[in-house]
Amino acid sequence: MPNAYISGAGSYIPPLVFKNDEFKTKYDMDTSHEWIEQRTGIQERHFAERGVASSDLALPASQAAIKDAGLVPEDIDLIIFATLSADKAFPGSAVYLQKKLGLLDGESKKFVACLDVRNQCSGFLYSLSTAAAFIKSGQYKHVLVVGAETHSAALDFTTRGRTVATLFGDGAGAVVVSATEEDRGLRCSFLGADGRYAEELKLDLWNIAERPYVDIGNDRSGPGTVRPEILWPQMNGKVVFKNAIERMIMALMQACWDQKISHEEIDLFLFHQANKRINDYIAEQLGLPAHKVPSNIERYGNTTAATIPLLMDECKRDGRLKKGMKVACVAFGSGFTWGSAIIDW
Ligand code: UT7
Repeated sequence: MPNAYISGAGSYIPPLVFKNDEFKTKYDMDTSHEWIEQRTGIQERHFAERGVASSDLALPASQAAIKDAGLVPEDIDLIIFATLSADKAFPGSAVYLQKKLGLLDGESKKFVACLDVRNQCSGFLYSLSTAAAFIKSGQYKHVLVVGAETHSAALDFTTRGRTVATLFGDGAGAVVVSATEEDRGLRCSFLGADGRYAEELKLDLWNIAERPYVDIGNDRSGPGTVRPEILWPQMNGKVVFKNAIERMIMALMQACWDQKISHEEIDLFLFHQANKRINDYIAEQLGLPAHKVPSNIERYGNTTAATIPLLMDECKRDGRLKKGMKVACVAFGSGFTWGSAIIDW
């Protein structure tokens, strides 16, 4: 059985920087740089321009990952696209990316398999695990896994929406997962979910049990009005915060237990970037030294499915992540869903 390793990584952040102060200066939101920075660690995030979709952000990240792996897009056998901000309700974003990668151009079209994963903040780890399973089964040799989000299209920039709007940013991170006979790669992954908490962090935009599925009020003959509560994401921040800490520690310990290693043997921890206080608390509880727990939430905010591959790519490029290292990844988010993984890089 081949091993599945990460042969390449790439990322893309849209150029427009949006600083904490701008919520107040541009939208008159009742918030401040101090509040956001102290409660979350975020200083700024990037927002994509109007007209840019998640598959557009995914494209340069994917191209960079494919190049880093020493491959061309035609070498990819499967595209897995993790996002909560899909280009459209359907079809999935992976098919848009497939076309943008040029796989359908010219004579020799490559009808590579496309799969969308809707697991929000843990979407990347669910996708990585799925990619590795395909590789280990022998079905595929190279799987592109991309997490990309365009949150800025669905944030409520009024004071009513401040708890959520100030947290999220746009961006994309991608990896190529490849087959190898070398003794390295993804050693284990743990995925979990607790649907009892599905309502604690959600976007109610549509409810397929209703007729029509988007509530447009009582006047169904006219254009209707969408209520703000269903247009914007809703979060019970404190419940999410508490569960994130518990589940992330548990998932990390489960992975270490499986590998029969202590967390001290791990060289680098790539944590989901939802709130710096969550990650600092976990690091403190486990006694992890700061240099082993890199962070980029300061600059990007929470990019949901993109946080871990983005951080992975940054660490790889600046030398913090090197071949031979033992890496642990962990994420938690809406669902609730969570995941962890240990990789011998
Ligand atoms: O990726 C996974 C998904 N998300 C997360 O993991 C996020 C988890 N939760 C959190 O990170 C934190 O709960 C938040 C950052 C969202 C909120 O921090 P908190 O320390 O739990 O604050 P809070 O919700 O208890 O709010 C305290 C006060 C409230 O005002 P009152 O009711 O005390 O008057 C909020 O309305 O802070 C207010 N507040 C704000 N004030 C200024 C909430 N958001 C803001 C804001 N600016 N952006």
